[in-house]
Amino acid sequence: MIPHAWFESLTPSPAALPARARLASSAPELPLDGDWRFRFAERADGPADFAAPAFDDSGWDTLAVPAHWQLAGYGAPAYTNVDYPFPLDPPRVPTANPTGDYRRSFAVPAHWPGGRTWLRFDGADSAARVWLNGAEVGTTTGSRLPTEFDVTGLLVPGTNVLAVRVVQWSSGSYLEDQDMWWLSGLFRGVSLVSRPSADALDDVWVRAEYDHRTGTGILLVSAQSPATVEIPELGLDAQVGQVVHIPNIEPWSDEHPRLYDVVVSTGTETVTVRTGFRTVAIEDGVLTVNGRRVLFRGVNRHEFHPDRGRAVTGDDMLADVLLMKRHNVNAVRTSHYPPHPRFLELCDEYGLWVVDECDLETHGFWHHDWSGNPADDPRFEALCVDRMRRMVERDKNHPSVVLWSLGNESGAGRNLAAMAAWARARDTGRPLLYERDWTCRDVDVYSRMYLTHAEVDAIGRHAEEPLPDPVLDARRRAMPFIHVEYAHAMGNGPGGLAEYQALYERYPRCQGGFVWEWIDHGLRTRTADGRPFYAYGGDFGEELHDGNFVADGLLFPDRTPSPGLLDLKKAVEPVRIALVDGLTITNRYADRGLDHLRFLWTLEDDGAEVAAGALAAVAAAPGGTVDVELPDLPKTAGEAFLTVRAVLAEDTPWAPAGHEVAWAQFPVGAPVVSPRPSPAAAPVVEDGSIRIGPATFDARDGRLVRLGALAVDGPALQVWRPLTDNDRGAHGEALEPRWRAAGLHRLTARVDEVCAGPAGLVVRTRVAAAASVAGLHVRYTWSGIGDDSVRLVVDVTPDGPWDVPLPMLGLVLALPGSLTEVEWFGRGPGEAYPDTGLATRVGRFTASVARMQTPYVYPQENGRRAEVRWASVTERSGAGLRVAGSAPFGLTVRPWPAAALDAATHPTDLAPDGRTWLTLDAGHNGIGSASCGPGPLPRYLLPAAPARLELTLTAL
Ligand code: GAL
Repeated sequence: MIPHAWFESLTPSPAALPARARLASSAPELPLDGDWRFRFAERADGPADFAAPAFDDSGWDTLAVPAHWQLAGYGAPAYTNVDYPFPLDPPRVPTANPTGDYRRSFAVPAHWPGGRTWLRFDGADSAARVWLNGAEVGTTTGSRLPTEFDVTGLLVPGTNVLAVRVVQWSSGSYLEDQDMWWLSGLFRGVSLVSRPSADALDDVWVRAEYDHRTGTGILLVSAQSPATVEIPELGLDAQVGQVVHIPNIEPWSDEHPRLYDVVVSTGTETVTVRTGFRTVAIEDGVLTVNGRRVLFRGVNRHEFHPDRGRAVTGDDMLADVLLMKRHNVNAVRTSHYPPHPRFLELCDEYGLWVVDECDLETHGFWHHDWSGNPADDPRFEALCVDRMRRMVERDKNHPSVVLWSLGNESGAGRNLAAMAAWARARDTGRPLLYERDWTCRDVDVYSRMYLTHAEVDAIGRHAEEPLPDPVLDARRRAMPFIHVEYAHAMGNGPGGLAEYQALYERYPRCQGGFVWEWIDHGLRTRTADGRPFYAYGGDFGEELHDGNFVADGLLFPDRTPSPGLLDLKKAVEPVRIALVDGLTITNRYADRGLDHLRFLWTLEDDGAEVAAGALAAVAAAPGGTVDVELPDLPKTAGEAFLTVRAVLAEDTPWAPAGHEVAWAQFPVGAPVVSPRPSPAAAPVVEDGSIRIGPATFDARDGRLVRLGALAVDGPALQVWRPLTDNDRGAHGEALEPRWRAAGLHRLTARVDEVCAGPAGLVVRTRVAAAASVAGLHVRYTWSGIGDDSVRLVVDVTPDGPWDVPLPMLGLVLALPGSLTEVEWFGRGPGEAYPDTGLATRVGRFTASVARMQTPYVYPQENGRRAEVRWASVTERSGAGLRVAGSAPFGLTVRPWPAAALDAATHPTDLAPDGRTWLTLDAGHNGIGSASCGPGPLPRYLLPAAPARLELTLTAL
């Protein structure tokens, strides 16, 4: 019998030093990042002879640290959501265990102090065995947590040789079943850390509370050595272990991330901790910081870069923080592991609330009714508690961290209770959260994921479904609620953001949530012929995978904001501007006035700016609403809109002056009544065609074939749309099966009548699916207007029983592909569907057809512009087509047909087909969030009901 291997151990790293805070110290550190020698193997049981300093590694490759070896061409990335990609038999792992052997040499710098020297690994996925100069140092476990070893006795003068074996699978992998790519290696830094031999500050804990009633900061610094404690800017001088009350402290918050440098010194070491004073509490069932209710406008953040995977750089982290701040995000859940330590420093500095989550997920046991769940298996208790300890110890000094999360989706179990007990005993300053045990027996906050709006509403009223145990039920009912994942941002969407936000703002108990998730994890790859695309599950030949479920973020993989992020920014904006009887402005900040903002207005008449100005200074306390005097607006002739924008008055660390924080737009002026066009030329029938003014129709089926000089094919009724991830609804209320059952993907049209009369051309069709009794009667009525235009009225009348909402209802026309430029007056600049597009406003916009496509990682319905009054689709010369509606319509322009978009699985499957496809719709079904969670709210469903589109087509 082959004994369990070192990486199947259930004892956490016996040689590791006690967990401690990450500290900025005067003692030097030597980063060992950069190029290492590297050898890849398919199994972990190769000889460990490479640990010997004399071993010849000249035949090895070179790999950077930090990096994942799969992204450097060794083995392959693999993506699963819930499933473990290996058989479940904890703690055993497969014999086929991809393994990376690493070697590098280094010299201890000349100035390196005497005393102790530690070796730190910030992240080795999933377990490592370490040798220095041929002697074994120890092993690591817990991919996203640091491990330190004392290597003082192993260092030699001159060249030291460090050898590390990293295995992909270990007992710890059972605790790391997060929904993400399986990627291995030394993916965070490795360093040598000097430690003074006497009076060292190995660990320092700065607890900085804030009494909001008195404005007093309460400071307590602990360390194992006696030391002085100073806050130079306050002239504060104290000692470790002493509780100091400091008057007139500026507290820390997301809005005002005031940091103070706390300098802790012994004779041999100085440590500087950037602290923020704040007190987290739960008062009367509400989570407060510094006495104020917190509202999380949050996102779930995985560490990700399309080339680097989770080996993110400082710039990647800063980019995330800046993007969050610029999109009104104020909170991050570090789903589902402690992030790189630098990320938390950035959160402290820029102001983001953090739910720091432990590196624990055992989701795959859910498929087995949680039987054998490591989170409930006593054998795994030590590993679980070790992870919690290492997270809390590492991150305890961060003011941004306000909640500890035990982990994600690990069922319920004794080890969670043990982790919670340990954390409570250690840190009384932060409440605990864990979503998956709905009894909340171990935690302080009730959290759930992907609830419907109605469920959130019930929780807001303390009227949720009761737990069977009345004691636990009463306890949970008194807890604050956090929607720890909501609004699954996969592909087009998510819909319903504004309605969730309204609930978080209405009910004190509902303290906001965290959108799932921040960024698409698409890995940059190339097709065989060299075209770049973002890969998802299955693209690397995985047998077991979850496809594009890994691409469900608010950012595209290259960190371009998706329409969903722009919508989120609008939904959670901290200032509300309204025009009811007059203009009012509501301050939705928790903690600040509005004097950092300028309020600018513009008046547009038919999309052209006619006046602009700034409002007088707006003063409103947090939570307050003020009336603001409306500017004197000049008279307008067309359709007029007043837009009021709140922009930063001055540069901030995260955005320049002028950055828009909030806005609103209001129709003003008298409604415009367009005169009803009087019909012109009657149809002329000759040679198998019918002509009305500039339009020529096929006399057999009434199809428009020409408009002026333009070849046209259409319009045809369009009901199907290229399915969105939310229509497919992998983990939610999917509409796709109902739509397919109704045959909506295979509708055909029967021509019932083509009749040219004095009033125009009438074409009647019935559109229906084989085997179905339900259909849609469609009546097209064409009449001429002047020489260059024709008017089309389309009436759709459902026939027979319809019990599904329609994907959409519109018309599609094929135009020559030379028409590449679009201009429209309607909502823009981005896409909008009934429950999305909060970020869009009415105006005049231009875009190329190519630019009108939203590049979702998995191709799907996209790019619709809403509430369009008129649009032109032209060649660069201006020749082409103009469409105007008597009521606003939806506009989609594509360089390929909808069917090609529907069939594509990667953007590289799509190529312009030589035509420009114009879709004009009377409505779309909502988008919702059913890729994981609820579908569209009922009011956003598109029923099969009588509908009309009234359009004027003009040849340009
Ligand atoms: C949640 C889970 C996340 C992610 C999400 C769906 O259940 O916590 O990790 O899988 O669903 O994308």
